[in-house]
Amino acid sequence: MKTRREVLRSSVALMLTRAVPLAGFAGTVNAQALDEIARPLDVPYVPTPIAVVDAMLDLAKVGKSDTVYDLGCGDGRIVVRAASRFGCRGVGVDLNPERVKEAKENANRSRVTELTRFEVGDVFDFDFSPASVVTMYLLPSVNLKLRPRLLKELKPGTRLVSHDFHMGDWKAETTREVGRSTIYLWTIPART
Ligand SMILES: C[S@@+](CC[C@H](N)C(=O)[O-])C[C@H]1O[C@@H](n2cnc3c(N)ncnc32)[C@H](O)[C@@H]1O
Repeated sequence: MKTRREVLRSSVALMLTRAVPLAGFAGTVNAQALDEIARPLDVPYVPTPIAVVDAMLDLAKVGKSDTVYDLGCGDGRIVVRAASRFGCRGVGVDLNPERVKEAKENANRSRVTELTRFEVGDVFDFDFSPASVVTMYLLPSVNLKLRPRLLKELKPGTRLVSHDFHMGDWKAETTREVGRSTIYLWTIPART
């Protein structure tokens, strides 16, 4: 049984080893696209494997009536997959315009443009309050920085799923191992 610290250490290492073949994430975008990124990324681009995407959507019990927001959406795979599998709505935001372009192309290929929206933006400024499900594959420090806003701005009952990274002392209600990944589920509590 791995301790939380061991899980965290291996998750960060895994994220970094997945990023290295992509040339340390700067190599995944062309020079012009890099110029267009508003500020340095808080997290490198490492896509979630599709089996893990499906496990995240299943863990959150996503259904047709949901609105899934992916914070740092990359190529949009989580939102596109949710819309394709369940016919639900979805929104993705990414600081990198190259990723948002890919996400829109992905939605187009999967014929879910009507259900999905992708925007260039910063997760720290983005309004995610309409979500009923939020997905994240960020980093522990970014999760912790977002945590007060997630708790304050998301509606009670909203499900939150994170790939590989926890929320500090806000303990996940369910944790699942999927291949080399760990996924975490929280539900936004009622406000007191
Ligand atoms: C690890 S990738 C996850 C991509 C996608 N969510 C997935 O699971 O396949 C993190 C993404 O966050 C984006 N990102 C990093 N900092 C960001 C920020 N401050 N605001 C929005 N997106 C950000 C990166 O460009 C990258 O696409």
